[in-house]
Amino acid sequence: MNIIARRKVEAEGQFTPELLDWYDQHAREMPWRIAPSDYAQGVRQNPYKVWLSEIMLQQTQVITVRDYFLKFISHWPTVHDLAEATLEDVLKAWAGLGYYSRARNLKKCAEQLVSDFGGQFPQNKQELIKLPGIGDYTSSAIAAIAFDEAVPVIDGNIERVMTRMFRLETPVPKVKKPIAELLVEHLDHDRPGEFAQAMMDLGATICSPKSPKCSICPVSRWCGSFGKNDVERFPVKKPKKKKPVRKGAAFVIFNRANNIWLCKRPMKGLLAGMTQVPTTDWNSTQDGETGFEAAPTKTDWHFAGTAKHTFTHFHLELEVWTGAIDDTPPIDGWWCDQQSLKDQALPNVMNKVIDRALANKVKKAD
Ligand code: ADE
Repeated sequence: MNIIARRKVEAEGQFTPELLDWYDQHAREMPWRIAPSDYAQGVRQNPYKVWLSEIMLQQTQVITVRDYFLKFISHWPTVHDLAEATLEDVLKAWAGLGYYSRARNLKKCAEQLVSDFGGQFPQNKQELIKLPGIGDYTSSAIAAIAFDEAVPVIDGNIERVMTRMFRLETPVPKVKKPIAELLVEHLDHDRPGEFAQAMMDLGATICSPKSPKCSICPVSRWCGSFGKNDVERFPVKKPKKKKPVRKGAAFVIFNRANNIWLCKRPMKGLLAGMTQVPTTDWNSTQDGETGFEAAPTKTDWHFAGTAKHTFTHFHLELEVWTGAIDDTPPIDGWWCDQQSLKDQALPNVMNKVIDRALANKVKKAD
């Protein structure tokens, strides 16, 4: 028997009970979760909450998601409410969470659930994955957590736990396949949803990327890399490609009442349908124009510094220009008073632009 096969047999059926015992004591409290003691009493999670939380948790940390989740549940307590909301309102409530296609798909998915499924979620991965915005990970997570389907769930935390436990040398992301096979062998068939969440919690609180707390890990005796003292070598990653730096310019235009001119981005492409101040074009493959000559209107422009933001495929450096005008600029949009900026669908990059413009204005007044 080769070493991996032997380790599989050794760990088989053994780390799982200890992991679940640990979860029973240490599960993190989250507003979309059922506590293990309630689950044991037969309480089951509302699939709407599981779905909403899982969409928000893609690429976003639990600590950031918590307040957004509570806001969405209070605005739209059921999938029917969300289906009836306007996209505009959903984008506003999502502003700041990033990856805005998630919000557009959320809305589309809610509509489809109501029109095609009477507002009920399909109860297995195979059907869930056909819905907008629900991919391989999310369909597995919802199927396991909401419906206790015995499917492998692999997020970044679980990937780390499994590659360390079994010393899997295959680099990310190809390692997902062997992890899925191992998870099928090890997951708990009575509590597949709690098994997945226990693995997530273990990865988040103990099996952390740096300085994992192996001395208090409930499953360290089954862990191959703990045994070999090379835990932090896993997961194995290929060197990252460097992201290009793109450039452009943003124009923060004030009127006499110190309102700011906002406009809507096109409904296609990066940050589709979100709100912004007028900017030059820029995207993941192309710089935009820079300098105040690129502004949509003539006035006395002041350079307020550079706002930097990182997207999935590129870093963006936007020159921020401020200017004041008496009339309205020659582009579609609206004046927004500064107190109402928080209610607009402004993505983080635009908050950085506006913050820079306002900080610069304050400096000038001093
Ligand atoms: N990340 C994604 N889904 C999660 C969940 N249900 N619990 C903890 N972390 C998660």
